[in-house]
Amino acid sequence: MKNLLKMLDLSREEIIDILNLADQLKYEQKNGIEHKILKGKTLGMIFQKSSTRTRVSFETGMYQLGGQALFLSNRDLQIGRGEPVQDTARVLSRYLDGIMIRTFEQKEVEDLAYYGSIPVINGLTDFCHPCQVLADLMTIREFKGRFDGLKMCYIGDGNNMANSLIVGGLKVGMNVSIACPVDYRPANVVLDFAAGYGDKFMMTTEPLEAAKGADVVFTDVWTSMGEEGETEKRKIAFEGYQINDEVMAVAKPDAMVQHCLPAHREEEITEKVFEAHADEIFEEAENRLHAQKAVMVKVMGENQE
Ligand code: CP
Ligand code: NVA
Repeated sequence: MKNLLKMLDLSREEIIDILNLADQLKYEQKNGIEHKILKGKTLGMIFQKSSTRTRVSFETGMYQLGGQALFLSNRDLQIGRGEPVQDTARVLSRYLDGIMIRTFEQKEVEDLAYYGSIPVINGLTDFCHPCQVLADLMTIREFKGRFDGLKMCYIGDGNNMANSLIVGGLKVGMNVSIACPVDYRPANVVLDFAAGYGDKFMMTTEPLEAAKGADVVFTDVWTSMGEEGETEKRKIAFEGYQINDEVMAVAKPDAMVQHCLPAHREEEITEKVFEAHADEIFEEAENRLHAQKAVMVKVMGENQE
């Protein structure tokens, strides 16, 4: 595996391979077994948007694997003053062993990988959030023990999280349903991909229809980073697209709830449902660390393909 740019690029086998390694690294870390697989290596982390989990889990993960991470804020890099991505890619490739980038346009991430010669990991774009979804899949398998036969539903904005969850969920064998307003559907390329899965994928405007019989219920913020100017308009558009008692009542009695965080209580999820499922949600946040360590070993370790 050379890069992690989007879930669409990964095969089912590659996803399962990452999840298996993530489980192993989690178990070993909990049992005090250290692996300095990335000793002497440096990961550059370019952030053009805010982050708590992504920054801290990548930095800590790199340290635990024996390497180091550099936090490269857009405010300080020349890229923030207009230096082209193709030049940045070629320069950074001469210093670093890998780049993690969080930015707006997916094309910037793809260009970084194309023009550079070192692995690139997508730490979130407007289009997708593959690191988060690998952690989500890890958490689902941890709590449910399997993927086959499970129904995952997503209620809310057809954003980066929805795009990645649909692809990841279908690839590992789950049924996926999504409820979103007509004007906030997932990307066409994702809907085209999902169409290939027949009735394993369902899209509706009705949250209760999507949640019916679900084993896993997902949501995300109504207003993503970069869309703050639309906050009020979105509050109106997404009214009713909330994980609440009514939604949970139609899901399976043992349904789990996932949220990539940060959460806006009483908008996309009620305080009550959030707190009732806090164990699952914070395990999901922890699993960012383990899943990303697995990704870094796969793309930056010695025997990467
Ligand atoms: N879920 C997630 O990516 O969190 P951060 O924005 O804090 O990194
Ligand atoms: N959809 C959210 C996810 C944050 C982790 C955003 O892009 O802001």
